[in-house]
Parts: sequence; C-alpha cells; structure tokens
Amino acid sequence: MDRIINIAIDGPSGAGKSTLAKMVAEKLRIIYVDTGAMYRSIALYMVQNGIDTGKKDKVVPALEKITLSLEYTEDGKQRLVLNGEDVMEKIRTPEISSNASKVSAIPEVREFLLNLQRDIAKTKSVVMDGRDIGTVILPNADVKIFLTATNEGRAARRFKELTEKGIETTYEAVLKDMTERDKRDRERDVAPAVPAEDSVFFDNSEYNKEEMLEKALEIIKSKVGEF
Ligand code: DC
Repeated sequence: MDRIINIAIDGPSGAGKSTLAKMVAEKLRIIYVDTGAMYRSIALYMVQNGIDTGKKDKVVPALEKITLSLEYTEDGKQRLVLNGEDVMEKIRTPEISSNASKVSAIPEVREFLLNLQRDIAKTKSVVMDGRDIGTVILPNADVKIFLTATNEGRAARRFKELTEKGIETTYEAVLKDMTERDKRDRERDVAPAVPAEDSVFFDNSEYNKEEMLEKALEIIKSKVGEF
C-alpha cells in the first residue's frame, strides 16, 4: 500500500481484538500496535516497585522513572522495552491485567502514552487496537471497528489463553475479573472504552478466526477501497 492507512480496533477485553489486528496487519502488510501492552508495561513497573496502582499521587511521580519504547523484531513482532528490558512475556498475567486497568484510568498515564501511540501512526500504516483509538488517539482513522462478543465467549477465550500459558485460574475467576475491568474501563472519566460514533460495530460471537478476518477485510475495503 502506498498511502498511509490507519485502522483502529477498539472493544472490551477478550473480544478478539489482538487476534484480528495481527491477522489484518499480516494480510495488509502493515504494522500492528498493541496499546493495551503499553498500559500493561506501566502497570508492571508499578507492581515491581511496590507502587499501589489505585493511588494516583504515587503513580504519577513514578512515570518520570519510566522509559518505554516500541520496537519490532525482524519478523514484525511488537516488543515493548521497559527501562531496557523486553517485557512482552511478563505483562500477560491476571495481576497485571487488573493493575493495567487501574493505571489506565489516570489521565497523566494516558497523556504519557499518547504521543508514543500517535507518532507511529503518522509515518506508517498501522492497525492499532485498544479502547480509545477511534475516539481519542486516531480520531481521523480511515477505518474504525468496535469489536465485541458475549461476556461468556470473551471469558472463555481469555481462560483458554491463560491456561495454555500455564497460568492457573478458573473460568469463573476470569469472568469476574473481566467484568470488573470492563466496567472500570467503560465508566472512567477520561477516554472511556466506548465506541466512536463513526465506528462499525462488529459482534464477533458467532465467527471463527477466518470468518472474523473476512468480515473485517470487507469493512476495511468498504472504507478505503481496494488494497
Ligand atoms: O487490551 P488489554 O487487555 O491488554 O488492555 C489492558 C488494560 O489497558 C485494559 O483494562 C484497559 C487499558 N487500555 C486502555 O485504557 N486504553 C487502551 N487504548 C488500551 C488499553
């Protein structure tokens, strides 16, 4: 693709955003940006340093000590480097999920990550997933998809992912954490996780991966034409 295309995929946790965004990126040969991983990296720093993510007055000064950069491996995989360390593995635990949701409600944390997210989309075609990409980060994105699925379907997907990684948990615990986290993300004052007015609502409950990709490519094509 010659021109720069920005695709925003927002939605609640476990809806399949990252699976879809990765497939779209591969198919269109553009870059995938996982913004949730950035909030998770900030949460990891706070947890590692004993900082309570519910306490804004403790979290905000600690941001000064964080250097976070986005890098790509030769095979195109995203890596987040937190103060010199690749943290992509460490950020995928239930503890970090819940702390990421807490830090993401703090306006200064969102501000801290804003330029990192926006700058990459200025110079490159990207498919970026998160909660506020279509509303705040890339309000002029060419394509905005709001991806969702039933609560049970989302929890089952997350439970499977965690179990496959060897993390011990139960379906009930995942459903409970996810429901709490989504409520907090949706109801926060700053950049709440709600669909942009001009987004295409996509309920992914009934689709398999291939169908989900096909449907998303149809949406993308209807907005940006042939690619
Ligand atoms: O997509 P995820 O589960 O990795 O995101 C982790 C948390 O970060 C999630 O609870 C909400 C928050 N988040 C956000 O507020 N804005 C984004 N653009 C991405 C994630």
